[in-house]
Amino acid sequence: MSTERTFFMIKPDGVQRGLIGEIIGRVEKKGFKIIGSRMLRLDAELASRHYAEHQGKPFFEDLVHFITSGPVVALVLEGEDAVEVVRGMMGKTDPRASPPGTIRGDLGMTMSRNVVHGSDSAISAAREISLFFPENEIMVYKKDIDDWVYPQID
Ligand code: RTP
Ligand code: MG
Repeated sequence: MSTERTFFMIKPDGVQRGLIGEIIGRVEKKGFKIIGSRMLRLDAELASRHYAEHQGKPFFEDLVHFITSGPVVALVLEGEDAVEVVRGMMGKTDPRASPPGTIRGDLGMTMSRNVVHGSDSAISAAREISLFFPENEIMVYKKDIDDWVYPQID
């Protein structure tokens, strides 16, 4: 178990569908600390850099078109094993194959409108956080409630 940061984003469909509160509520209630938050609209360049691993794939153009189609909410979340835990909360890439209880399983119907993004590894997380957040926009602070989320005796 180690404290980690991950990059998390509510995609344009989530914003348009009024799901910002629902989704942020889930990660807050789980126990994550929000240490970065901004709303922005990606341009094609930032979208291409963010999804650089998918350049050249058949769905790449549609993906960039969609992710730049409206504002998103970008977040940095901190918690124990944050990358893996957030990916688990998201479900699978395809919302219809995602189990109930997951964000995509509960809130999405199709692969190209899957509501949220989360980093898939610690290396991706570091890269994505630095793409979206200058260091001075990451808030380092203590939440007293953390003692109730992660007891010292576990
Ligand atoms: P994300 O990066 O957005 O969090 O999604 P992910 O890790 O679950 O999936 P990834 O493989 O990174 O794919 C990025 C996004 O591209 C779209 N996609 N379409 N048609 C296809 O075969 C296909 N594969 C991926 C999805 O919208 C996915 O979220
Ligand atoms: Mg991905």
